[in-house]
Formats: sequence, C-alpha cells, structure tokens
Amino acid sequence: MIKNTLFLRALKGETVDRPPVWMMRQAGRYLPEFIALREKYDFFTRCQTPELASEITVQPIRRYGMDAAILFSDILVIPQAMNIEVEMKPDFGPYLPNPVRDQKGVDAVIVPDVDEALGYVMDAIKMTKDKLEDEVPLIGFAGSPWTILCYVVQGQGSKNFDLVKKFCFTEPAAAHQLLQKITDTTIAYLKAKVAAGVDALQVFDSWGGMLSPADYQEFSWTYINQIIEALKDDAPVIVFGKGCWFALGDMAKSNAAALGVDWTCSPKTARELTGGQITLQGNFDPSRLLSPPAEIKRLVHEMIREFGKDRYIVNLGHGILPYINLDHAKAFIDAVKEYES
Ligand code: CP3
Repeated sequence: MIKNTLFLRALKGETVDRPPVWMMRQAGRYLPEFIALREKYDFFTRCQTPELASEITVQPIRRYGMDAAILFSDILVIPQAMNIEVEMKPDFGPYLPNPVRDQKGVDAVIVPDVDEALGYVMDAIKMTKDKLEDEVPLIGFAGSPWTILCYVVQGQGSKNFDLVKKFCFTEPAAAHQLLQKITDTTIAYLKAKVAAGVDALQVFDSWGGMLSPADYQEFSWTYINQIIEALKDDAPVIVFGKGCWFALGDMAKSNAAALGVDWTCSPKTARELTGGQITLQGNFDPSRLLSPPAEIKRLVHEMIREFGKDRYIVNLGHGILPYINLDHAKAFIDAVKEYES
C-alpha cells in the first residue's frame, strides 16, 4: 500500500487536509545530481537504462519530497518504437532525420509489440517502484497523438508546426491513419505501464493549443478521448493540454480523472469552464519560480485558495525551466506543505 495517498485521493475527488504537489519535468536539468549523470550518458541511454531512469526519477523526491514521482523518460520513445528515428541533440532538442510527410511514409510506420520495443520502460518502472518503497505514487506518461504527430511530421520543434498542419489539411486521410497508429501504440504502451506498476497516467498535449477549437476536436481530442476510454478502468488519467483552455468544457465531460491547466487561464475561469466537479492540476507560471522565495510562497497560497484545496493538484502550468534556483523550487513545494486552510 502506498503511504502518501494525497495525490491518489485528490484524483478521486476526496477531501484532503492540503492538496498534493508535484512539478512537471521535475526530474531534470535544474538538479545538479541530474546534470552529473547527463555529463556521463546521452539522453536516450538515460531513458533506456533502467538503473539510470529509476535513479533520475527518485532524485527530486529525495531532495524535495513531492507527493508523486514521474518516471524519467520521454514522449518520443513512442515514435522510436514505431520505427521512426529520433535523436536528442544537445542545446537543440528532438531531431527526426526522416520525418513522415506522405502516405508512403505513413504506410512504413509500424504499430510495435510494446513489451518488446519498450520493455526497458517497464523494467525502469519496476526498478523505480522498488526504490520508492511505496512512499509516493508513480506517474507514467505519454504524449498525445497530436503532439507526437507534431514531431513526427515537422521533424523538430517549431513555433507554429506549419508542416504538420499542411499535412493534416491537405492529406487528412493519411494524417488520421498515422494518428490512429500512434493512438493504438500509446494505448498498448500505457496499459503495459500500468501492468508494470505505475499508479496514475498523464497525457501531455503540449501542442494542442496550436489548433483552432474545431481542428483540436478533429486532430487531437478524438484521439486523447480514445486513450482515456481505453485506460479509465486501469488507472486514473490526467490530461494536460497546453493552451487548450478552450476545450476544458468538453474535457470535463470525459472520463479523465483530472485536467491540467496552464497559467494563461485563471483558476476561477478553469473551474467555471469545467463545472466545478473534476479535479484540476496546475497552473503556476514556471517563470514565477524566478520570483524571491517569499513571493513564491505567497503566490502558491493564493493559487490554492483560488482553486480550492479539494479536487486540486498543485503543479506548474508547464515544465520547470532548466535554470531555476534550487531554493526556489523548494519554496514552491514547501509552500504547499505549509498550507493551512
Ligand atoms: O517530467 C519529468 O520529470 C519526467 C521526464 C520528462 C522528460 N520529457 C524528460 C526530458 C517528461 C514528462 C517529458 C515529456 C516531454 N518531452 C514533452 C511533454 C511535456 C512538455 O514539456 O511539453 C515534450 C514536448 C517532450 C519532447 C522533448 N524532450 C523536448 C522538446 C526536449 C528538448 C527540450 C527540453 O525541454 O529540454 C526533450 C528533452 C528532454 N526530455 C530533457 C528531459 C529532462 C532534457 C534533455 C536532456 O536531459 O538531455
């Protein structure tokens, strides 16, 4: 049995003394112990070596005592497993040398046996669960099919993902076929992650906000909802859509256990759009961790009051920035633990 149940209780909508807290991208570049490992091993070696991935996962928990751990990995292990080459270039980010841009390319993409292609992730989960000794729950994650499509078609990060939109709008049948292959792989992958031991799941739709509300329904939400429906009886599913506040109303009607909110939407608006019943997660501006620690604490307490302590998971509105001072990250976590209603 997991000892710290705050996070899982908040996902169920139960009453808690204080909300749980974790940070998106908490296992990462602001931690000196992470940087030490990064200097020795390249990115995908860290992902593919269970000893390293599990160690990086527990680093922030040891240092700060968040209420949940998130497995160190990346959303782009999915396209890799689907036979699409992915490189992680230092100081550049993801680079896919052979992006998929036509029907022929879509036909060449495989739906893999996830236990075979991604068995290293399942091994990392088992090793992480051992290291966590049931102190806190472990979150497994995947990118949304749309966000994965963004990298697979564009080939790298982008300000507007224009080539992806061109592909969707000029070859919609091929685009939907590829989205479905990604969805099928993701469902099998997340089911395997739950079987390996993760306690909750998060789907990152980092680029959903690039789409108009109508296109979002067609190219992103349809597929995210398939994932929710397939996984809802296996584990609680959190959906984080960056810039997707316009879809919160529809999302709240789904079987997602919680919805992530970014910092451009106020807590009040997020509650109104979602009808007040579903658990929300977020939404501290990651740049606000640059404020002095006392100010961070004041803002975190204000945020908790605005969301309300129940049906709420404290988090950032997107991933932590790489150059955040360690004491500022600590102030964020401590503020939540010190919260009294
Ligand atoms: O949250 C965690 O601590 C778990 C680890 C995690 C990573 N990537 C490790 C990582 C998670 C949840 C992700 C998800 C991810 N990866 C997303 C969705 C979340 C988001 O931030 O929008 C996306 C879009 C990616 C793709 C990706 N991976 C990019 C764009 C980059 C380069 C830019 C960057 O943020 O550094 C990565 C590399 C990456 N993934 C790093 C880490 C710690 C940094 C590179 C390194 O360590 O060498």
